[in-house]
Amino acid sequence: MPPSVIHSLLLLAAALSAAAAVTHDSHDHDHALDKALPGRWYHDDDHPAHALFKRGATDGITYAAVGSPEWSAGFPLKVDPNALPQAWVDAYNSAKSAGKIPTNVPVATQSNGGNPTYGNLDPNGNVVCSATYKCRSPGDIWDAPDGVFGSSFDDGPLDTSQALYELLHENNLKTTHFYIGTNILWYPNEFLYAWNTLQSDIAVHTWTHPYMTTLSDLSVVGELGWTMELIHNSTGGRLPKFWRPPYGDADNRVRAIAKEVFGLTTVIWNQDTEDWSIGSPGGATRDAVNANLQKWITGPKSPGLIILEHELSNETVGAFIQAFPLIAQNGWKFQSIAEINNTGVYQNSPDDNGAVVLGTVGVPASAPASTTPSSASAAPSNATTTKSSSSGAAGNNAASTTGTSKSAQATGSGDASHNGAGARFASPMLAGIVTLLSVAGAALVL
Ligand SMILES: *[C@@H]1O[C@H](CO)[C@@H](O)[C@H](O)[C@H]1NC(C)=O
Ligand SMILES: *[C@@H]1O[C@H](CO)[C@@H](O)[C@H](O)[C@H]1NC(C)=O
Ligand SMILES: *[C@@H]1O[C@H](CO)[C@@H](O)[C@H](O)[C@H]1NC(C)=O
Ligand SMILES: *[C@@H]1O[C@H](CO)[C@@H](O)[C@H](O)[C@H]1NC(C)=O
Repeated sequence: MPPSVIHSLLLLAAALSAAAAVTHDSHDHDHALDKALPGRWYHDDDHPAHALFKRGATDGITYAAVGSPEWSAGFPLKVDPNALPQAWVDAYNSAKSAGKIPTNVPVATQSNGGNPTYGNLDPNGNVVCSATYKCRSPGDIWDAPDGVFGSSFDDGPLDTSQALYELLHENNLKTTHFYIGTNILWYPNEFLYAWNTLQSDIAVHTWTHPYMTTLSDLSVVGELGWTMELIHNSTGGRLPKFWRPPYGDADNRVRAIAKEVFGLTTVIWNQDTEDWSIGSPGGATRDAVNANLQKWITGPKSPGLIILEHELSNETVGAFIQAFPLIAQNGWKFQSIAEINNTGVYQNSPDDNGAVVLGTVGVPASAPASTTPSSASAAPSNATTTKSSSSGAAGNNAASTTGTSKSAQATGSGDASHNGAGARFASPMLAGIVTLLSVAGAALVL
């Protein structure tokens, strides 16, 4: 609350108690009624004012308002692997020279929209382990625990998302949205609804939805990095923890870049309704999608379900809405991906409300964070370069206890005690402590 408002409230309280002390007459309750707040004093849920008073703690940095020109200006429409923020390239190089990115998995080739291939290498072998071929790596998430309906939706936000979001809202359900970065740029209101009103889990579905295994390392970095950055800048500084590869297409190289450069866990699925193909030539029919959903939801509880579903169209959303009552009727526990993983939603925050530890996209545990304090502000597309040098991936709590961090910019939202780390670290020693903590903290979350 700004000081001026607090001041006014104090004055008002003083005036009221003074008045109460001297006026004891029969008109008291009339006046009390008049003084009460009007019955309807708040804005409608979709009023833009809500964006100004966003729920939840932030990392203390003031980000451009979601949907504003300043918010989108720094983001590219396509990924240019030669124009990435230096911090991401540094993080990639550091992970690569530490031997954490496999060099023996070639970039896959693809023709006619078929599955990516690897020359003579077996896509299901230990070297490649392509999720497209259903090869599961131990770090992936494919199944939900027994009896759990692990809920997630791909490809939003879109204007077709709204009916789904209303259902989630009415039933007070949390799900995981694997969002396409550029769709967040086009549909900021749907994004805000999911984030502010539904308090859904926001996760990464890449910037432009390519077959990731067919991309160079740096293009993979860009597809993930820009999506991370946009979500980070649109959620008060939260760093997503989960990503789903488009088409389920990841291999050991792509998984490693996601994990080592960005701290992302790869999430696939164990059932595919093929709802995404409704309406395309040779695609699934709506009836077939409905029948599959019914079969799985009324079927065995072990393992639990993670069904591939989409916000893509009226039909994909409609199929879920139609099947939805069956989930509870058949005794499933409905959980988001973070819930089934029994972990916080974000790498640096438990959820959409909780405290946010200052974190920067592309400053992973494995990369030594620079201790050089940040100096200049850079052009938007290069801003993470300078930001990363001052922040490290964790350390807000430590910074708060040192008493050096109270100069964070006011954000007008959230819990001020969580906003401390927005301050630049003036002392190299403090930055060093933060770096150490970030390595320890990140080791816990990764
Ligand atoms: C960002 O700035 C640094 C330092 O000025 C520069 O070396 C780097 O090439 C820039 N990166 C981009 C993507 O412009
Ligand atoms: C959560 O995901 C991580 C990363 O894949 C994994 O190591 C961990 O075992 C998972 N936890 C649960 C409870 O599934
Ligand atoms: C799909 O479109 C039809 C026809 O416009 C409409 O009646 C229905 O409510 C829509 N369903 C969803 C889930 O939006
Ligand atoms: C993300 O937000 C930070 C802090 O406001 C800003 O410096 C940076 O330019 C933003 N990133 C982009 C790509 O706009």
